[in-house]
Amino acid sequence: MTTNLSRRSWLQRSAMAAAILPVSRWYQPDQYTSKSASPFPAGIIRLNSNENAYGPSEAAREAVMDSLNEANRYPRHFMASLREEIARRENLTPEHILLTAGSTELLGLVGLTYGLQGGEVVACHPTFDFMLAYAERLGCNWARTPLTSTYQYDLNGLDKACGSNTKLIFVCNPNNPTGIEIPTAELQSFCETQSKKYPVYVDEAYIELSPNGRASSMASLVDSNPNIIVGRTFSKVHGLAGLRIGYAIANPVTIELLANFHIGRGMTISSASANAAIACLKDAEFEAYSRRKIIEGREMVCKAFDKWGVEYMPSAANFVFFRNDKFSMDPVEAMEKEDILIRSYDYWPGWTRVSIGTTEEMEAFISAAQKYV
Ligand SMILES: Cc1ncc(COP(=O)(O)O)c(C=O)c1O
Repeated sequence: MTTNLSRRSWLQRSAMAAAILPVSRWYQPDQYTSKSASPFPAGIIRLNSNENAYGPSEAAREAVMDSLNEANRYPRHFMASLREEIARRENLTPEHILLTAGSTELLGLVGLTYGLQGGEVVACHPTFDFMLAYAERLGCNWARTPLTSTYQYDLNGLDKACGSNTKLIFVCNPNNPTGIEIPTAELQSFCETQSKKYPVYVDEAYIELSPNGRASSMASLVDSNPNIIVGRTFSKVHGLAGLRIGYAIANPVTIELLANFHIGRGMTISSASANAAIACLKDAEFEAYSRRKIIEGREMVCKAFDKWGVEYMPSAANFVFFRNDKFSMDPVEAMEKEDILIRSYDYWPGWTRVSIGTTEEMEAFISAAQKYV
């Protein structure tokens, strides 16, 4: 962060600490807005964490409030209902579903299940590396395969990297930070072939935002194939990142295997998160709205990049990864000067990721960025 931003943030944060927002203000009836209770001063635009600026929906907010009446009880019945709702949506049974505190916790369980005995996890690099880095910390090697020359997740490369030491293959679809989606038929055939030999984890955090949405999911493979695990989250299209709720879709045998590493077998989920997630699954209108607005925002950014000649990767997610060379200074620093937070990666110099926020936020990003191209 620039000194300016840090100083301003600090001053404003101190002021905010004294002014605790009343619940009635937090519980806004206006639909599709997400304001208040923010640790960030007003005016800072957060496009650095692939969050959903439209969430949580009104239905999810109400569900959180309703769940408070049961906050003195353990969340078992909320969890059971959520598993049923997810199962219904996926044409599977609740036994095919494991709820976790965000899909991050699921990644941890997968890391423990397959990485504790050493060996190798095979995955492309760069990708979303939480589980891979964790497995490494557990003593398992991450066999890194580069992306293809067009930045696609390299399924052939993964195939070549697998061997007698392989404990798990990790596929991120769409990938983060590239946003690029793997063609569904290719991934399906890869999963079917590889899972005969190795467990395959498919991270589908952004799948609902891809052109064909959940039709591109590998979830339909899990019932007949215990070696395929699909990871999903309520953090992205549903806008519940702060409530920490994710899930695995897998064969019941595999769900049991993962659940054995889940302390309390699921007691990391709160009633509020589970009830909000149930509300999200019943709120097709908000999901469609959220998806449409995010795709519109993505298209706005891509159109501006096209106009400026900025190279970017074709994204199927709620962010766009672009090349810095058309900018007069580092885009992260430039945007900080404009009170807009975006993100770059040490391992991928010369490129930057912008997450998709509201239409107004994307307009602000585009007009700010234009000053530096
Ligand atoms: C590809 C991918 N998987 C998983 C996650 C973890 O998300 P969460 O723990 O909020 O479900 C993220 C977060 O950004 C992600 O980008």
